[in-house]
Amino acid sequence: MKHTGRYPELVGRVAVVTGAAKGIGRGIADRLMGEGMSVVAADIDGASLNVTVDSFRDAGAEILPFIGDLSVDTEVDRLFRETTDRFTTVDLLVNNAADLRRRRLLDEHTDVLDLQLATNIRSPYLCSQRAAAIMRDHGGGSIVHISSVGALRAHHRGLPYDVTKGAINAMTMAMAVDLGEYGIRVNAIAPGVTFKGDRPVDEAERRITEERIPLRRSGTVHDVAAMVAFLASSESSYVTGQVISVDGGITAQLSPSGPGALERDGRRIQPVERNET
Ligand SMILES: NC(=O)c1ccc[n+]([C@@H]2O[C@H](COP(=O)([O-])OP(=O)(O)OC[C@H]3O[C@@H](n4cnc5c(N)ncnc54)[C@H](O)[C@@H]3O)[C@@H](O)[C@H]2O)c1
Repeated sequence: MKHTGRYPELVGRVAVVTGAAKGIGRGIADRLMGEGMSVVAADIDGASLNVTVDSFRDAGAEILPFIGDLSVDTEVDRLFRETTDRFTTVDLLVNNAADLRRRRLLDEHTDVLDLQLATNIRSPYLCSQRAAAIMRDHGGGSIVHISSVGALRAHHRGLPYDVTKGAINAMTMAMAVDLGEYGIRVNAIAPGVTFKGDRPVDEAERRITEERIPLRRSGTVHDVAAMVAFLASSESSYVTGQVISVDGGITAQLSPSGPGALERDGRRIQPVERNET
């Protein structure tokens, strides 16, 4: 495979990407293979994973598919066993797999809560534990959790998802502090609205959403994947314990622009002004 990567030090390194069958995880796996990494692509959705892996293989990439439910401890063990059997080590772990459903608190959703605690918190925790033991014995590595802007600013109808992403941010700092002495860096990426290109989009709705984003566009899987590649590379060798937003500025703003903002006499009125009058 011809490597079109930006970070030559990644060529031949080994990455494990969870939730790699589709969406952001697929984009991350694609970028890392473009950097010349060998990728273990893990997902519970075997049918989608097979399609993805076949397309990557057609491009000549070195990829090991792993089909399994990573909310199950024994499957996490199997993932890292199969990875080391094939590649000996792990240089990068990307904890991307998650259940993204969102509910209101007063809606009955104990099943979603239990599944998200297992998939969005316990699974990346255990994957990190297994990967870190391998990285420690091989001189270090990089762990990247995929969080969300919902960990910092609540989505409407954002439960229990936002809670699980808040735990990811805390996990990032705690693991970075714990693993620093082994040369293992731990960071998180918090994507904002991310266009995955995997389903038809209501263009009118998309325009309204994008007018509220400071950079006036949705993010793409490439935006997130680029940050993963940077965090895997030696260019970020002094960066650990950080949650980096890749969100077009949405968490930086106090009040959104676009049709959500009020106008009076053709002039936009921000909420702070309304409070003052
Ligand atoms: N899409 C967005 O706008 C957005 C925004 C912020 C954060 N994120 C985060 O980015 C990550 C990827 O999101 P996405 O939009 O690509 O989601 P997605 O649903 O398209 O992909 C998630 C993948 O994880 C897999 N998965 C789920 N549970 C699993 C399990 N138990 N074991 C193994 N694999 C499992 C799914 O099969 C799927 O392929 C998630 O962590 C999500 O919270 C997404």
